[in-house]
Amino acid sequence: MIQIFSNSLGDDEAAAVKRVLESKWLGRGKECENFEKELSTYFNTPETLLFNCCTSAIYALLKAYGIGPGHEVIISTVNFVAVASAVLEVGAKPVFADVDPDYFNILPSEIERLKTKKTRALFILHYGGHPAPFNEIKAAAEKDVLIFEDSANSVASKYKGVHCGALGDGGAFSFDAMKILVMGDGGALIVKDPAVRAKAKALRYLGYGEGTTSGSEASKTGKLRWWEYDLECLSGRFISNDIQASMGRIQLQKLPGFIARRKQIWDFYQKNLKNIPGLGLPPEPLPDTASSYYLYWVKAPGRRNELAAFLKEKGIYTTFRYFPLHLVKFYGDKSHLKNAEGMNENTLNIPVHQNLSDGDTQLIVDAIRQFFNT
Ligand SMILES: Cc1ncc(COP(=O)(O)O)c(C=O)c1O
Repeated sequence: MIQIFSNSLGDDEAAAVKRVLESKWLGRGKECENFEKELSTYFNTPETLLFNCCTSAIYALLKAYGIGPGHEVIISTVNFVAVASAVLEVGAKPVFADVDPDYFNILPSEIERLKTKKTRALFILHYGGHPAPFNEIKAAAEKDVLIFEDSANSVASKYKGVHCGALGDGGAFSFDAMKILVMGDGGALIVKDPAVRAKAKALRYLGYGEGTTSGSEASKTGKLRWWEYDLECLSGRFISNDIQASMGRIQLQKLPGFIARRKQIWDFYQKNLKNIPGLGLPPEPLPDTASSYYLYWVKAPGRRNELAAFLKEKGIYTTFRYFPLHLVKFYGDKSHLKNAEGMNENTLNIPVHQNLSDGDTQLIVDAIRQFFNT
C-alpha cells in the first residue's frame, strides 16, 4: 500500500538517539535547548518553545493569553479537533468560520460576519501548507483581537517573507509522526509577547516559574535545601526530551530537501492530472508566499468516495483532512458552512510525501486517469 503520510527517520536520527542514550541524560536538556535555538534561527523568532506535541502547545497558548469564560474564539472550521477542544476546555466559546472554496483557508469575510464584542482571538490554519491571506485576515479582525496560527501544516511556509506561525500573536507547530519534520511526537510554540511567553513556559512544565532550576543545578549555587521550590501556576507536564529533540535537530537540517521533493511531486500532479473532466485540482500558493506542500488535494464532485475506494483497491491509501469541526456532533454546533460542507463531500487528499518514488507518483496518476477513463 502506498501510504498517505510517511517519515524520513533513518540512520542519522538513530545515531543521534544513540548518542543521547549513551550520555545517560534522557530528559529535557542540551538537545532540547539547542533544538529550540535552531528552530528560532529557522523561524527568525527571538525564542521558540519545544513541547511534547502541538495540542499541548495550543492549550498553553490559550491559557497564557488568558483566554477563558466570556471570550469567543473564531476558528476555521477546517481544522483538527485540538483547537476547538482547547478553546472549550479553557471555558471560551469556539465560533466556527467557513473557508475559501479552493484554498480551504479561513475567509476574511467570515471574520467580519462572526466577530462580536466578545471576540478575543482568531485561530487560523494554513491548509495543506498554503499560507492563508494574513493581511486580509488582520484587516478583518478588530485591533485588540489576538491572531493565533495552527501551523501544523506549515512548518516551512512563508507569507511575504515571514514564517507562518510567526505572523500573529502565537503559533503552534506539530512534529508528530504524520507531519513533515518528525520526532515521533513533538510540538513547538512561538509567542510574540515576552511576558505571555514566560507564562507559556511555566504552563509547559508543571507551573514552575522562570527562575526554577533542577535540584542538581541549584545544589551547585551553594544553596542549602536545594530540593525546595515554588510554583507560579497550576499545570500539567508538557515538555519534550533529549531523545526526541536529537531527532528533531537532524530533521530540521533535512527539511529543505523534504520540501523540495514534495514540490516536485506537487508539480508532477498539477501537470499530469490537469484537464480530466470531473476532477478539480488545488490552486498554487498565493503570490509572495511559500508552501510546505503538506497536503495535495483533488475534488471529485459526486464521486469522491468511489475514487477513494478505487485507489484503495489499487494499493493507494488516501484520506480527507479535515472533517469540519462544526460537524463534530460532540461540539453541538448548529452552523451551516457551505464551502466546508462542500469540501467534506468532494475533496480527497492523495499522497505527496517525500518518500514517494517517481514510479509511485506515476502509478497514482495512472490510477486516477483510469478511474476517469482518460
Ligand atoms: C492541523 C493540526 N493541528 C494540530 C494537530 C495536533 O498535533 P499533535 O499531534 O502534535 O498534538 C494536528 C495533528 O494532526 C493537526 O493536523
